[in-house]
Amino acid sequence: MIETIDISGWHDPIDGATRAKATQALERGAVLFFPRLRFDLGNDESRFLSPAVGDGKAKNISLDHTTGRIQSTSLKGDDAAALASMIERFGASATQVVDALLPYRHVERARTSFRPVEVEGRAYSKINDDRLLHVDAFPSRPLNGRRILRFFCNVAPADYGQDGERHWHVGQPFEDFAHTFLSRAKTHTPGKSWLWEKLGVTRGRRSAYDEMMLSLHNAAKRDSAFQAHSPQTDVRFPPGSCWLVYTDQVLHAALGGAFALEQTFHLGIDQMAEPERSPIRVLERLTGKALA
Ligand code: SIN
Ligand code: FE
Repeated sequence: MIETIDISGWHDPIDGATRAKATQALERGAVLFFPRLRFDLGNDESRFLSPAVGDGKAKNISLDHTTGRIQSTSLKGDDAAALASMIERFGASATQVVDALLPYRHVERARTSFRPVEVEGRAYSKINDDRLLHVDAFPSRPLNGRRILRFFCNVAPADYGQDGERHWHVGQPFEDFAHTFLSRAKTHTPGKSWLWEKLGVTRGRRSAYDEMMLSLHNAAKRDSAFQAHSPQTDVRFPPGSCWLVYTDQVLHAALGGAFALEQTFHLGIDQMAEPERSPIRVLERLTGKALA
């Protein structure tokens, strides 16, 4: 469930055996853990380790690397630009590691985020509460079977909270989870998907796959018996470590911690070494239907 990759440099060459081991573990639903991969902040960047850099509303500050636009920060002018440049440096470094580690030809770099707010003790609606086990699915961003791969790094000071750790639970394999919840998944209504695209509610049209993944996400979060009793493992990521995981496949919950950086990637399943492990192929097998 956790596969350790022991590199310490962001530009380290990675040997073939490590690449093969990483690809197989990741695609089979492991979390790749980089215990010695530390993302160093510059002297004048430690000032960003404060919840006050957030806007007080959003969970995350996000950066669109294609435009340089930063969102949901209270900072202005040069301070906002300096924060954006820290997030960008992280995103570029994460991209470098993903490119060096995995055999995929084209991985799309999506948003980069900084998470300066303590996870524990915030108020959320159930559906927005990532302290509950879930697989990721984006309401406004249909993926039609493409993957969600996320690279996280804990940049908390070691004396923050519980040893600065980011505390996760990781749940059962995707297929077991999907098998339990599929009967509760909503049936796809193409007319609604068409309308939502036209109205701009979604960027692109939701497929049956997208509807099903959202249903699984919501049903899992709403099911308190599942949350309490389904198998789950406690995982703690210390400051100065990073991790990489297919969050559309691995059931995860973030229970505590603050000051993480995160880079999201998307890729088509045709690039995977084992596409049949992807959520869309698993769901198609279980339902006997084409979903995108
Ligand atoms: C999530 O993707 O559910 C949140 C993970 C985190 O912020 O640690
Ligand atoms: Fe998530």
